[in-house]
Amino acid sequence: MKTITGILAATALTGASAAYAVDLEVTHWWTSGGEAEAVREFAKAFNEQTEHTWVDGAVAGGGNVARPIFVSRILGGDPMGATQFNHGRQTEELIQAGLMMDLTDVAEAEGWKDLVNPPSLLDACTLDGRIYCAPINIHSWQWMWLSNKAFEDAGVPIPTNWDEFVAAGPALVAAGKIPLAMGQQPWQQGGAFNVIFTAVGGPELAERIMGQKDAEAARSPEFLKVWEAAAQARELSANSNVQDWNQATNLVITGQAGGQIMGDWAQGEFALAGQNAGDDYTCLPGLGLQDVLDTGGDAIYFPVNRDPAVTAAQKELAALLLKPDVQVAFNEKKGSMPVRGDVDMASVNECMKKGLDLLAQGGSVVVPSIELRLSADTIAEINDLVTEFWFDPSYPPEEAQEVYADIISRAK
Ligand code: BGC
Repeated sequence: MKTITGILAATALTGASAAYAVDLEVTHWWTSGGEAEAVREFAKAFNEQTEHTWVDGAVAGGGNVARPIFVSRILGGDPMGATQFNHGRQTEELIQAGLMMDLTDVAEAEGWKDLVNPPSLLDACTLDGRIYCAPINIHSWQWMWLSNKAFEDAGVPIPTNWDEFVAAGPALVAAGKIPLAMGQQPWQQGGAFNVIFTAVGGPELAERIMGQKDAEAARSPEFLKVWEAAAQARELSANSNVQDWNQATNLVITGQAGGQIMGDWAQGEFALAGQNAGDDYTCLPGLGLQDVLDTGGDAIYFPVNRDPAVTAAQKELAALLLKPDVQVAFNEKKGSMPVRGDVDMASVNECMKKGLDLLAQGGSVVVPSIELRLSADTIAEINDLVTEFWFDPSYPPEEAQEVYADIISRAK
C-alpha cells in the first residue's frame, strides 16, 4: 500500500496538483541476463521507494533495434514514461522538437552539477543550458575480455595486449577455439572497430578524425594501420556465428573463444556466470596498447507528458536514479561505474578497479565515447561500412579507409 505521506511528499516535491500513483512504462534494451538483473534494481527501488509502479518495456536486439522503435513511438504520439538512450547526440532532434521533458529543476534540487562525475556526462544531457536526461552510469567500450581457460587449453600464455593476442591466434585455432568472438549485429563490429581504432591508432588520431572531423587524418598511413588491424580481427572472428553480444561473451565464458572486444557491460555476464576477474577471465583496457577509457554510457530520458501526475512520477524517478544506494545496486550488477564520484562500490573486482583507476587519472586517458562525438546517422553509416568490410574478406583495408574518410568529410 502506498502511503498518504508518500503521495503528499511527491506533490510537495514537484508542485503538481493532481498526484496519484502512476504505472510508468520504462523502455530499454537491457535484455541479457546481467542487464536484466541490473534493471531489476531500478524497478525495485521505484516500486519500494515511491507510490508508483515500474512497468518494464524491454526491447530485445540491442540498441540499433530498440532506438528506432523508441524514437518512432515518441514522434508518433505514443510516448513511454521514460526511456534509455546512450547519453550524447542520439536525442538531439527529439529535444529540439520539444518532445523531451526539461529536468533542470530536478537536477538543481538534487545538486547534480556538483556530484555528476565526469561533468561531461551531465553536459551530454544539456542543450542550451537546460538538462534533459538523468545520466545513470559510465560505460566504456575500450575493453577486451579474455578466457583464461581458452589460452591454457591452447598451451599459450594469456596475452597482455592486442599484438600478443593476434600472435596467439594460430594456437587457439589448433586447439579448436574461435580466437575472437563476434556477434553478427552491425553495432558490434562497429563498436569493436572503434576500440581497435583508439588502441592501434591512439587517442590523438581518434580525436582528430572523430572529434575534429579531419578527413585528411582519415586518409593518413596511421589510419590505414587501424584498418589493417581490423582486417586481422576479421580473420580471427571468421568462425564466430552467434548473433547477440552476450552469446559471444558466453563463448568466452565457456572457453570456446579466446576473447571478445566489447564494452564493460560484458562484466555483468561474467558475474552472473560466477566467474572472477583474474582467475577465470582477464580484461585489457585499450587492448593493452593504450591506457584509455571512453566515457559514454546510459541516460534515462522522459518524454513530455501532459498529465501532471505522470510528470510528477517521471521527476521522482529521475531523482531516484542518482541516489547513492540506487547507483551502487544498479552499477554493481551492470558492470558499469557510478556517475557520482562520492559513492563506494561495495565489491569492486579487478577489472572495475582498473576502470576506476583510469577514470581517476583523467586527462588524456579519458576520451569521449563515439556517441558524444558523432551523430547517430554518421555512426550508422560507419557501422554499415565496418559490417560490410567484416563480412567480406576480400574487401581491402585501403578501400574501406577511403569510404570512411568520405563519411567523415560529410559528418557534422
Ligand atoms: C548500452 C549498455 C548495454 C549495451 C548492450 C549499450 O549501448 O549502453 O547499457 O549493456 O548496449 O546491450
